[in-house]
Amino acid sequence: MAIFVTGASGHIGLAVAHELAWAGHEVRGLVRTDVGAQRVATHEIEPVLGGLADLELLARAAGTHEVTVHCAVDHGPERWALETAALDAMIADASEARRPRLLIYTSGVWVYGTTGARAATEADAPAPPAMVARRLDVEAQVLAAAGGNLTTAVVRPGCVYGGGGSLTAAWFAAAAAGGPVPVIDGDNRWAMVHRADVASMYRALIEQHRGGLWNCVDGSRDTTAACAAAAHRALGGAGDVQRLTLDEGTARHGALAACLAFDQLVSADKARRELGWRPAHAGFVAEARRLARSWRAHA
Ligand SMILES: NC(=O)c1ccc[n+]([C@@H]2O[C@H](COP(=O)([O-])OP(=O)(O)OC[C@H]3O[C@@H](n4cnc5c(N)ncnc54)[C@H](OP(=O)(O)O)[C@@H]3O)[C@@H](O)[C@H]2O)c1
Repeated sequence: MAIFVTGASGHIGLAVAHELAWAGHEVRGLVRTDVGAQRVATHEIEPVLGGLADLELLARAAGTHEVTVHCAVDHGPERWALETAALDAMIADASEARRPRLLIYTSGVWVYGTTGARAATEADAPAPPAMVARRLDVEAQVLAAAGGNLTTAVVRPGCVYGGGGSLTAAWFAAAAAGGPVPVIDGDNRWAMVHRADVASMYRALIEQHRGGLWNCVDGSRDTTAACAAAAHRALGGAGDVQRLTLDEGTARHGALAACLAFDQLVSADKARRELGWRPAHAGFVAEARRLARSWRAHA
């Protein structure tokens, strides 16, 4: 299949584009720089130079590829405006195509907020904090666009570990700096998933041409303190962890602290049942040593 991936140089986008290219699909990836182009080309992904503000380019790409996977995120203040306009453009041309099209949007489990003891399913009402509340509007924009030849899917990954590490990189960086690894609370659990398992879920959705809403988590249930201690030990330490209060975390991380403090249990049973998806990775704690090696190599 011909597949267009935005954010192809990113943590999730590169893993997804790589999985699809190595599975034999014809993958083009949106990149902003020559360095990004070089990076994706080494994974047999054809680079397309551009940005989320290049609406004509995005629309044309979504109209001419059978599948569009949106993984780009602009971390600047225009994040949501850029995302909404980019998706509008891609949806418009994909909707007008004469052949079936699939568009996948990458959301995240943070929309659930703290879940409590029962694992959140796709049927549960989200309760996002202000920082990610706009995410629900974007999810709705994508899901409502389905119709005619266009199928749309929204994926909610947990915290994505593996490779350079994304959020988990901070645990390794603190351990490598010689101090304890700070976490907010510590008894809270994050829903997590390896980036390769995210990629295999996207591949399943694409090859089965499935729309709708999908949680994407590995089922591990470790506390953030256990994860932080494992990261510390993996880099030769004794497993030292510094537990911060939410106020202390907010002083360090601002609004992000509310998300880092979530206690989340999330179910991906729907994907297991309906897609036959099986995460290959056991969880951050179980794989901390190899993840630390990978983090070092990326750092
Ligand atoms: N990482 C996680 O743990 C996690 C978990 C759940 C959900 N998510 C969500 O998944 C999505 C992808 O996250 P990620 O971790 O893969 O992010 P990332 O590693 O920061 O990658 C972002 C990608 O977007 C590209 N990009 C940034 N601004 C752009 C712009 N203006 N135009 C075009 N491309 C642009 C970046 O290109 P450059 O390489 O040029 O910077 C990069 O390829 C986000 O919506 C995120 O919230 C992430």
